[in-house]
Amino acid sequence: MTQDSLFISGEGDNWYRRNRSALDNPDKLDWPLHLFDLLGNKEAITSVIELGCSNGFRLAKFKREYLPNARCVGVDASTEAISTGKSLFPEVELYHGTISAPPVEGHFDLVVVNYVLHWVDRSQLSRSLAAVDCLVKDGGLLLLGDFLPDYPQRRRYHHRPEEQVFTYKQNYSASFLALGLYREMARLTYDHDGASSYELLPVDSQRRGVCTLQVKSLNGYYPEV
Ligand SMILES: C[S@@+](CC[C@H](N)C(=O)[O-])C[C@H]1O[C@@H](n2cnc3c(N)ncnc32)[C@H](O)[C@@H]1O
Repeated sequence: MTQDSLFISGEGDNWYRRNRSALDNPDKLDWPLHLFDLLGNKEAITSVIELGCSNGFRLAKFKREYLPNARCVGVDASTEAISTGKSLFPEVELYHGTISAPPVEGHFDLVVVNYVLHWVDRSQLSRSLAAVDCLVKDGGLLLLGDFLPDYPQRRRYHHRPEEQVFTYKQNYSASFLALGLYREMARLTYDHDGASSYELLPVDSQRRGVCTLQVKSLNGYYPEV
């Protein structure tokens, strides 16, 4: 079974059941929202999509706290997260699907992907990165979060020990920068397993999470020579 099919066929629902009560706990730290909070000129953002959005809780916060008039769209592999999210957050458009083939067309001012790429089947990784890139408008923003160990590594997914399923931790932000179409605007690293406030502290490789904000430009980063 591939990682994507495992998530679509139920593991996404299992993740949602284990975590749903914590998702919109007001005391839970949300590094993507924290980084977004520092951004100026938020009024220019009229469309947001989050891939691997779970029930859409973060999109609902974007809309409520920062972007009341923006179109907010979410895609997740869990049918349960999507169906619950539709009733909890009717102001958000939610779709069941994968990051490698999101069932949404068009370009968005802001694309959010937080702790999803480490789940993606390696056969779908480049397709997923391309799908994310396609959704970011020229001049748009990419808000990306994931683990950031010192070197790429995989770990057995302990919830399904009978399957050959792993989490793959690596610098995903570097993949977008390598395209030459993105520039990093901001980066926060933090203790994924232990941060209790937004205080910036040094953290070990194995527990390091990162959140980056990148700006896309199709031609702006190519000086003509
Ligand atoms: C670790 S959770 C993170 C949820 C949310 N992004 C957050 O920041 O809390 C990973 C999410 O990605 C979803 N997911 C896993 N594989 C996916 C895939 N291939 N395409 C879309 N969503 C996926 C899961 O169902 C789950 O909601």
